[in-house]
Amino acid sequence: MALKERDEFSGQVTTGHEWNGIKELNTPVPRLVWAFLGTMALFAVVWTILMPSWPGINGYFRGLLGADQHQSVELTLAQAAADQARWTERLVNEDLATLQADADIMAVVRQASSSLFIDNCAACHGVEATGNPGYPNIAEAPMMWGGDADTIAETIRVGINATHPETRFAQMLAFGRDQMLAGAEVTLLADYVASISHGPALPTEQRLAAEELFANNCAGCHGETAKGMVETGAPDLTDEYWTYAGDHAAIRRSIYNGRQGTMPAWEGRLSTAQIRMLALYVLDLRSATP
Ligand code: HEC
Ligand code: HEC
Repeated sequence: MALKERDEFSGQVTTGHEWNGIKELNTPVPRLVWAFLGTMALFAVVWTILMPSWPGINGYFRGLLGADQHQSVELTLAQAAADQARWTERLVNEDLATLQADADIMAVVRQASSSLFIDNCAACHGVEATGNPGYPNIAEAPMMWGGDADTIAETIRVGINATHPETRFAQMLAFGRDQMLAGAEVTLLADYVASISHGPALPTEQRLAAEELFANNCAGCHGETAKGMVETGAPDLTDEYWTYAGDHAAIRRSIYNGRQGTMPAWEGRLSTAQIRMLALYVLDLRSATP
Protein backbone atom coordinates (compact mmCIF):
# COMPACT_ATOMS: atom_id res chain seq x y z
CA MET A 1 0.00 0.00 0.00
CA ALA A 2 1.60 3.16 -1.23
CA LEU A 3 1.57 6.29 0.86
CA LYS A 4 0.30 9.42 -0.91
CA GLU A 5 -1.39 7.40 -3.58
CA ARG A 6 -3.46 9.54 -5.94
CA ASP A 7 -6.96 8.67 -7.04
CA GLU A 8 -6.94 8.43 -10.77
CA PHE A 9 -10.40 9.96 -11.32
CA SER A 10 -10.35 12.95 -8.97
CA GLY A 11 -6.60 13.44 -8.68
CA GLN A 12 -7.01 13.64 -4.88
CA VAL A 13 -4.59 11.95 -2.49
CA THR A 14 -6.14 8.95 -0.71
CA THR A 15 -5.86 8.13 2.99
CA GLY A 16 -4.27 4.87 2.07
CA HIS A 17 -7.12 2.78 3.53
CA GLU A 18 -8.80 0.32 1.29
CA TRP A 19 -11.93 -1.79 1.81
CA ASN A 20 -12.67 -4.34 -0.86
CA GLY A 21 -11.23 -2.09 -3.54
CA ILE A 22 -12.89 1.07 -2.28
CA LYS A 23 -10.39 3.74 -1.25
CA GLU A 24 -11.02 6.76 0.91
CA LEU A 25 -10.05 10.19 -0.42
CA ASN A 26 -8.16 12.43 1.96
CA THR A 27 -10.47 15.45 1.49
CA PRO A 28 -9.93 18.34 3.92
CA VAL A 29 -12.72 19.39 6.31
CA PRO A 30 -14.83 22.17 4.69
CA ARG A 31 -13.74 25.65 5.83
CA LEU A 32 -16.79 26.21 8.08
CA VAL A 33 -15.00 28.75 10.19
CA TRP A 34 -15.70 31.51 7.64
CA ALA A 35 -19.37 30.67 7.61
CA PHE A 36 -19.32 30.77 11.42
CA LEU A 37 -17.59 34.17 11.62
CA GLY A 38 -19.83 35.50 8.86
CA THR A 39 -22.97 34.53 10.77
CA MET A 40 -21.71 36.25 13.90
CA ALA A 41 -20.86 39.43 12.03
CA LEU A 42 -24.27 39.46 10.39
CA PHE A 43 -25.98 38.88 13.74
CA ALA A 44 -23.93 41.70 15.34
CA VAL A 45 -24.84 44.17 12.59
CA VAL A 46 -28.56 43.32 12.78
CA TRP A 47 -28.45 43.48 16.61
CA THR A 48 -26.85 46.95 16.68
CA ILE A 49 -29.56 48.16 14.32
CA LEU A 50 -32.43 46.70 16.37
CA MET A 51 -31.17 47.33 19.91
CA PRO A 52 -29.71 50.41 21.69
CA SER A 53 -26.05 50.43 20.65
CA TRP A 54 -23.73 53.07 19.17
CA PRO A 55 -22.76 55.97 21.42
CA GLY A 56 -23.14 59.41 19.89
CA ILE A 57 -22.50 62.96 21.04
CA ASN A 58 -26.00 63.67 22.34
CA GLY A 59 -26.86 60.21 23.54
CA TYR A 60 -26.87 56.83 21.90
CA PHE A 61 -28.58 55.09 19.02
CA ARG A 62 -31.84 53.73 20.54
CA GLY A 63 -32.34 50.85 18.14
CA LEU A 64 -35.32 50.17 15.91
CA LEU A 65 -37.10 47.98 18.52
CA GLY A 66 -37.08 50.69 21.21
CA ALA A 67 -35.96 48.25 23.95
CA ASP A 68 -35.09 50.09 27.20
CA GLN A 69 -33.71 48.38 30.31
CA HIS A 70 -34.13 51.48 32.50
CA GLN A 71 -37.75 51.63 31.66
CA SER A 72 -38.33 47.95 32.35
CA VAL A 73 -36.56 48.18 35.75
CA GLU A 74 -38.69 51.20 36.63
CA LEU A 75 -41.81 49.37 35.57
CA THR A 76 -40.92 46.35 37.72
CA LEU A 77 -40.26 48.60 40.72
CA ALA A 78 -43.52 50.49 40.21
CA GLN A 79 -45.35 47.19 39.96
CA ALA A 80 -43.75 45.94 43.22
CA ALA A 81 -44.64 49.19 45.02
CA ALA A 82 -48.22 48.97 43.77
CA ASP A 83 -48.43 45.35 44.95
CA GLN A 84 -47.06 46.31 48.35
CA ALA A 85 -49.48 49.22 48.68
CA ARG A 86 -52.34 46.88 47.85
CA TRP A 87 -51.26 44.29 50.49
CA THR A 88 -50.64 47.01 53.05
CA GLU A 89 -54.06 48.50 52.49
CA ARG A 90 -55.73 45.12 52.85
CA LEU A 91 -53.72 44.33 56.00
CA VAL A 92 -54.73 47.61 57.61
CA ASN A 93 -58.38 47.71 56.58
CA GLU A 94 -59.70 44.19 56.30
CA ASP A 95 -60.96 42.00 59.08
CA LEU A 96 -58.11 39.78 60.38
CA ALA A 97 -60.25 36.65 60.27
CA THR A 98 -60.99 37.30 56.58
CA LEU A 99 -57.30 37.87 55.87
CA GLN A 100 -56.43 34.67 57.71
CA ALA A 101 -58.64 32.70 55.35
CA ASP A 102 -57.07 34.31 52.26
CA ALA A 103 -54.31 32.09 50.86
CA ASP A 104 -52.75 34.93 48.81
CA ILE A 105 -52.39 37.30 51.71
CA MET A 106 -51.14 34.51 54.00
CA ALA A 107 -48.42 33.72 51.44
CA VAL A 108 -47.31 37.37 51.62
CA VAL A 109 -47.54 37.29 55.45
CA ARG A 110 -45.35 34.18 55.69
CA GLN A 111 -42.76 35.63 53.36
CA ALA A 112 -42.58 39.12 54.85
CA SER A 113 -43.03 38.33 58.55
CA SER A 114 -40.35 35.80 59.25
CA SER A 115 -37.57 38.39 58.94
CA LEU A 116 -39.73 40.94 60.79
CA PHE A 117 -40.17 38.40 63.60
CA ILE A 118 -36.48 37.51 63.68
CA ASP A 119 -35.45 41.18 63.79
CA ASN A 120 -37.93 42.28 66.47
CA CYS A 121 -39.22 39.35 68.46
CA ALA A 122 -36.84 36.40 68.28
CA ALA A 123 -34.36 37.87 70.81
CA CYS A 124 -36.96 37.22 73.53
CA HIS A 125 -39.38 34.65 72.12
CA GLY A 126 -36.84 32.60 70.15
CA VAL A 127 -36.54 32.11 66.40
CA GLU A 128 -39.30 29.50 66.41
CA ALA A 129 -41.40 31.60 68.85
CA THR A 130 -41.25 28.70 71.33
CA GLY A 131 -39.99 30.95 74.13
CA ASN A 132 -37.05 31.23 76.48
CA PRO A 133 -36.92 31.28 80.29
CA GLY A 134 -38.89 34.42 81.24
CA TYR A 135 -40.35 34.78 77.73
CA PRO A 136 -43.45 32.80 76.86
CA ASN A 137 -43.84 30.23 74.11
CA ILE A 138 -46.22 31.99 71.73
CA ALA A 139 -46.15 29.23 69.09
CA GLU A 140 -47.79 26.56 71.26
CA ALA A 141 -48.81 27.59 74.77
CA PRO A 142 -52.36 28.85 75.43
CA MET A 143 -52.31 32.65 75.07
CA MET A 144 -52.44 34.36 78.46
CA TRP A 145 -54.23 37.37 76.97
CA GLY A 146 -56.36 35.52 74.45
CA GLY A 147 -55.53 33.86 71.18
CA ASP A 148 -57.76 35.41 68.52
CA ALA A 149 -56.14 37.57 65.85
CA ASP A 150 -57.43 40.91 67.11
CA THR A 151 -56.38 40.23 70.70
CA ILE A 152 -52.89 39.17 69.63
CA ALA A 153 -52.55 42.28 67.44
CA GLU A 154 -53.66 44.39 70.42
CA THR A 155 -51.12 42.71 72.75
CA ILE A 156 -48.37 43.45 70.24
CA ARG A 157 -49.56 47.04 69.82
CA VAL A 158 -49.74 48.04 73.50
CA GLY A 159 -47.31 45.57 75.08
CA ILE A 160 -47.44 44.12 78.59
CA ASN A 161 -46.21 46.14 81.59
CA ALA A 162 -44.84 48.48 78.93
CA THR A 163 -44.66 52.28 78.67
CA HIS A 164 -47.66 52.53 76.30
CA PRO A 165 -50.58 54.41 77.95
CA GLU A 166 -52.95 51.54 77.13
CA THR A 167 -50.51 48.74 78.00
CA ARG A 168 -51.73 45.49 79.55
CA PHE A 169 -50.76 44.88 83.17
CA ALA A 170 -49.57 41.45 84.26
CA GLN A 171 -49.06 41.63 88.00
CA MET A 172 -48.22 38.42 89.71
CA LEU A 173 -47.95 39.60 93.31
CA ALA A 174 -44.97 38.89 95.58
CA PHE A 175 -46.96 36.88 98.13
CA GLY A 176 -43.94 35.84 100.20
CA ARG A 177 -41.75 38.90 100.02
CA ASP A 178 -44.66 41.27 100.68
CA GLN A 179 -45.80 39.04 103.56
CA MET A 180 -49.26 38.33 102.25
CA LEU A 181 -48.60 34.66 102.96
CA ALA A 182 -46.32 32.88 105.40
CA GLY A 183 -43.32 30.95 104.03
CA ALA A 184 -45.00 27.62 104.79
CA GLU A 185 -48.11 28.68 102.89
CA VAL A 186 -46.01 29.68 99.87
CA THR A 187 -44.34 26.26 99.97
CA LEU A 188 -47.70 24.49 100.26
CA LEU A 189 -49.05 26.46 97.27
CA ALA A 190 -45.92 25.58 95.26
CA ASP A 191 -46.52 21.89 96.12
CA TYR A 192 -50.12 22.31 95.03
CA VAL A 193 -49.35 24.07 91.71
CA ALA A 194 -46.74 21.42 90.91
CA SER A 195 -49.28 18.68 91.74
CA ILE A 196 -52.03 20.08 89.49
CA SER A 197 -49.69 20.57 86.55
CA HIS A 198 -47.60 17.43 86.62
CA GLY A 199 -48.49 15.51 89.79
CA PRO A 200 -48.24 13.53 91.95
CA ALA A 201 -51.47 14.41 93.78
CA LEU A 202 -51.11 15.78 97.33
CA PRO A 203 -52.41 13.89 100.37
CA THR A 204 -56.05 14.92 100.95
CA GLU A 205 -55.46 17.06 104.01
CA GLN A 206 -52.75 19.15 102.34
CA ARG A 207 -54.76 19.38 99.14
CA LEU A 208 -57.80 20.75 100.99
CA ALA A 209 -55.69 23.33 102.82
CA ALA A 210 -53.98 24.35 99.56
CA GLU A 211 -57.28 24.58 97.69
CA GLU A 212 -58.57 26.98 100.31
CA LEU A 213 -55.43 29.13 100.09
CA PHE A 214 -55.66 29.08 96.31
CA ALA A 215 -59.35 30.06 96.29
CA ASN A 216 -58.65 32.97 98.63
CA ASN A 217 -55.44 34.29 97.08
CA CYS A 218 -55.00 33.09 93.53
CA ALA A 219 -58.32 32.20 91.94
CA GLY A 220 -59.24 35.87 91.40
CA CYS A 221 -56.58 36.06 88.69
CA HIS A 222 -55.81 32.46 87.69
CA GLY A 223 -59.44 31.29 87.84
CA GLU A 224 -61.09 28.83 90.25
CA THR A 225 -59.76 25.83 88.35
CA ALA A 226 -56.33 27.47 87.85
CA LYS A 227 -56.86 27.40 84.08
CA GLY A 228 -55.89 31.06 83.68
CA MET A 229 -57.94 34.15 82.83
CA VAL A 230 -57.46 36.31 79.76
CA GLU A 231 -58.90 39.28 81.68
CA THR A 232 -55.87 39.35 84.00
CA GLY A 233 -53.29 37.76 81.71
CA ALA A 234 -52.69 35.13 84.41
CA PRO A 235 -51.55 31.86 82.83
CA ASP A 236 -53.03 28.38 83.06
CA LEU A 237 -51.12 26.67 85.90
CA THR A 238 -52.33 23.16 85.05
CA ASP A 239 -50.71 22.72 81.62
CA GLU A 240 -47.12 21.81 80.73
CA TYR A 241 -46.15 25.34 79.58
CA TRP A 242 -44.25 27.67 81.88
CA THR A 243 -43.08 31.18 81.20
CA TYR A 244 -40.53 30.86 83.98
CA ALA A 245 -40.08 27.20 84.88
CA GLY A 246 -42.23 24.40 86.21
CA ASP A 247 -39.94 22.84 88.79
CA HIS A 248 -40.89 23.26 92.42
CA ALA A 249 -38.18 25.83 93.19
CA ALA A 250 -39.12 28.07 90.24
CA ILE A 251 -42.84 27.86 91.05
CA ARG A 252 -42.06 28.79 94.64
CA ARG A 253 -39.96 31.74 93.44
CA SER A 254 -42.87 32.92 91.23
CA ILE A 255 -45.21 32.88 94.26
CA TYR A 256 -42.69 34.28 96.74
CA ASN A 257 -41.24 37.14 94.64
CA GLY A 258 -44.00 37.70 92.07
CA ARG A 259 -43.42 38.07 88.34
CA GLN A 260 -43.90 41.07 86.09
CA GLY A 261 -42.61 40.20 82.64
CA THR A 262 -42.25 43.08 80.21
CA MET A 263 -43.33 42.85 76.61
CA PRO A 264 -42.48 46.07 74.76
CA ALA A 265 -45.28 47.98 72.99
CA TRP A 266 -44.75 48.02 69.24
CA GLU A 267 -47.04 50.87 68.25
CA GLY A 268 -44.80 53.62 66.89
CA ARG A 269 -41.97 51.20 66.22
CA LEU A 270 -43.79 49.01 63.74
CA SER A 271 -46.52 50.11 61.35
CA THR A 272 -50.13 49.03 61.83
CA ALA A 273 -49.78 46.76 58.80
CA GLN A 274 -46.65 45.16 60.31
CA ILE A 275 -48.31 44.62 63.70
CA ARG A 276 -51.36 43.00 62.11
CA MET A 277 -49.13 40.95 59.85
CA LEU A 278 -47.21 39.66 62.90
CA ALA A 279 -50.47 38.70 64.61
CA LEU A 280 -51.40 36.65 61.53
CA TYR A 281 -47.89 35.19 61.45
CA VAL A 282 -48.07 34.09 65.10
CA LEU A 283 -51.47 32.48 64.46
CA ASP A 284 -50.07 30.76 61.40
CA LEU A 285 -47.19 29.33 63.47
CA ARG A 286 -49.73 28.14 66.04
CA SER A 287 -51.88 26.42 63.45
CA ALA A 288 -48.80 24.67 62.06
CA THR A 289 -47.96 23.11 65.44
CA PRO A 290 -49.95 19.94 66.01
C1 HEC B 1 -37.84 42.32 75.33
C2 HEC B 1 -38.41 41.00 75.16
C3 HEC B 1 -39.58 40.85 74.20
C4 HEC B 1 -39.63 41.20 72.87
C5 HEC B 1 -38.55 41.85 72.04
C6 HEC B 1 -40.91 40.76 72.41
N1 HEC B 1 -41.63 40.20 73.43
FE1 HEC B 1 -43.50 39.43 73.27
N2 HEC B 1 -43.48 39.08 75.28
C7 HEC B 1 -42.42 39.27 76.13
C8 HEC B 1 -42.80 38.87 77.46
C9 HEC B 1 -41.91 38.89 78.70
C10 HEC B 1 -44.14 38.44 77.39
C11 HEC B 1 -44.99 37.93 78.55
C12 HEC B 1 -45.37 39.07 79.41
C13 HEC B 1 -46.04 38.56 80.65
O1 HEC B 1 -45.31 38.10 81.49
O2 HEC B 1 -47.27 38.56 80.72
C14 HEC B 1 -44.53 38.59 76.01
C15 HEC B 1 -45.80 38.29 75.53
C16 HEC B 1 -46.16 38.31 74.19
C17 HEC B 1 -47.47 37.96 73.70
C18 HEC B 1 -48.66 37.55 74.54
C19 HEC B 1 -48.58 36.11 74.90
C20 HEC B 1 -49.80 35.63 75.62
O3 HEC B 1 -49.71 34.54 76.19
O4 HEC B 1 -50.86 36.28 75.58
C21 HEC B 1 -47.42 38.07 72.34
C22 HEC B 1 -48.54 37.78 71.37
C23 HEC B 1 -46.09 38.51 71.99
N3 HEC B 1 -45.35 38.66 73.14
C24 HEC B 1 -45.66 38.76 70.71
C25 HEC B 1 -44.45 39.39 70.42
C26 HEC B 1 -44.10 39.84 69.10
C27 HEC B 1 -44.89 39.61 67.84
C28 HEC B 1 -42.89 40.47 69.21
C29 HEC B 1 -42.09 41.16 68.14
C30 HEC B 1 -42.74 42.29 67.50
C31 HEC B 1 -42.50 40.39 70.61
N4 HEC B 1 -43.47 39.73 71.30
C32 HEC B 1 -41.33 40.92 71.11
C33 HEC B 1 -41.20 39.76 75.79
C34 HEC B 1 -40.84 40.24 74.54
C1 HEC C 1 -53.34 39.95 90.58
C2 HEC C 1 -53.44 38.77 89.78
C3 HEC C 1 -52.71 37.52 90.25
C4 HEC C 1 -52.83 36.88 91.46
C5 HEC C 1 -53.70 37.28 92.64
C6 HEC C 1 -52.00 35.72 91.37
N1 HEC C 1 -51.38 35.65 90.17
FE1 HEC C 1 -50.03 34.28 89.57
N2 HEC C 1 -49.72 35.31 87.90
C7 HEC C 1 -50.43 36.41 87.51
C8 HEC C 1 -49.91 36.87 86.24
C9 HEC C 1 -50.42 38.07 85.45
C10 HEC C 1 -48.85 36.02 85.90
C11 HEC C 1 -47.93 36.12 84.69
C12 HEC C 1 -46.79 37.02 85.08
C13 HEC C 1 -45.74 37.13 84.02
O1 HEC C 1 -45.70 36.26 83.15
O2 HEC C 1 -44.94 38.02 84.13
C14 HEC C 1 -48.76 35.02 86.97
C15 HEC C 1 -47.84 34.02 87.02
C16 HEC C 1 -47.82 33.01 87.95
C17 HEC C 1 -46.90 31.91 87.96
C18 HEC C 1 -45.79 31.68 86.94
C19 HEC C 1 -46.32 30.91 85.78
C20 HEC C 1 -45.31 30.54 84.72
O3 HEC C 1 -45.77 30.26 83.61
O4 HEC C 1 -44.11 30.53 84.97
C21 HEC C 1 -47.22 31.12 89.02
C22 HEC C 1 -46.56 29.83 89.44
C23 HEC C 1 -48.32 31.76 89.68
N3 HEC C 1 -48.66 32.90 89.01
C24 HEC C 1 -48.95 31.26 90.81
C25 HEC C 1 -49.85 31.99 91.56
C26 HEC C 1 -50.35 31.58 92.84
C27 HEC C 1 -50.06 30.27 93.53
C28 HEC C 1 -51.13 32.57 93.29
C29 HEC C 1 -51.83 32.70 94.61
C30 HEC C 1 -50.99 32.74 95.76
C31 HEC C 1 -51.16 33.62 92.27
N4 HEC C 1 -50.37 33.22 91.24
C32 HEC C 1 -51.87 34.78 92.38
C33 HEC C 1 -51.43 37.05 88.18
C34 HEC C 1 -51.80 36.74 89.46
